[in-house]
Amino acid sequence: MSIQPADALAIHPDNAIVWHDDRLYLLDQRILPGETRFIACGSAADTARAIKDMVVRGAPAIGITAAYGVVLGARARAGADPLSWRQALAADIEALAASRPTAVNLFWALERMRRLAETLDTAEPVPALLAEAQRIHREDIAANRAMGELGAALMQGPTDVITHCNAGALATGGYGTALGVVRSAHAAGKVRMVYADETRPWLQGSRLTAWELAQAGIPVTVQSDNAAASMMARGEIGWVIVGSDRIAANGDVCNKIGTYALAVLARHHGVGFMVAAPTSTIDMGVASGADIPIEARDPDEVLACGGKRIGPAGVMAHNPVFDVTPAALVDCIVTERGVIRRPDAEHIRALMAGT
Ligand code: MRU
Repeated sequence: MSIQPADALAIHPDNAIVWHDDRLYLLDQRILPGETRFIACGSAADTARAIKDMVVRGAPAIGITAAYGVVLGARARAGADPLSWRQALAADIEALAASRPTAVNLFWALERMRRLAETLDTAEPVPALLAEAQRIHREDIAANRAMGELGAALMQGPTDVITHCNAGALATGGYGTALGVVRSAHAAGKVRMVYADETRPWLQGSRLTAWELAQAGIPVTVQSDNAAASMMARGEIGWVIVGSDRIAANGDVCNKIGTYALAVLARHHGVGFMVAAPTSTIDMGVASGADIPIEARDPDEVLACGGKRIGPAGVMAHNPVFDVTPAALVDCIVTERGVIRRPDAEHIRALMAGT
């Protein structure tokens, strides 16, 4: 079900995931910026579908959304059977986990909810699970603010920046990871211009990043993905700043397809390459980027642009939507717990010790 903006939910990139009146509302990212409309999710199945269909996208955002999906599942399961809701809820958690494969924040948030559900010895699990989902949401915003400060402190400025995909408020609980750094750095006078790669084929850059930055009053120029090399050659780009969907234990960074190419270009041109991601994006269970499952979406996304078919009928296309940047090409990973320069297995292990 979709509802109109007039229905009391403020339209703002920082407000894209809203728990309101016992329901989950998601700002529909498929139609932004042309249309601003929330989708209401009333069940775990609705929530899993919204993640799969990319109503909501971005690693931390889908983790937070899935956590609220567990709350919706628990409400229905406990209502149907107060004694054995926990077993039934496991099926909802499984369905939510099957919605997208690459961003580890999804599995991290579901695991946190599952662990809590296991400890709840009650016929009314919803209050505790809702409190946990809201805690995950709040913690993500706080992490983004901390990363914003830490990332901005690394920049000399004023300089131009390239970003890829959308790692902003829309992709998170609010404020953003890479765009959180940009927001903090801009507030400190360190960002002249943000070049937002359009990010074919789903256009997260030209649709979402450009919308967010314009709303925040930060100068933004959209460029085709192919323009990055010549922009860097001009010598005015100080940093490439991106988010991540999963960081392996050796520091390899998985992010939107095209990120690896940017990292190669950045190293060639002496441009800094910064990844901003909360520790919920670090997966100590995968040794290297080679072990990260890369989602392939419908090839028709590549054969079309903005919903209009452009490729001839009958041709093939391939559409892997993430790639892996080797740790050796990453200058720094900014997390809420601190900055890792020249990431490798040892630095990542030290950062994650105690989790
Ligand atoms: O396919 P998407 O739009 O979910 O991919 C999102 C990205 O690749 C983002 O750059 C990444 O999740 C970092 S977001 C904080």
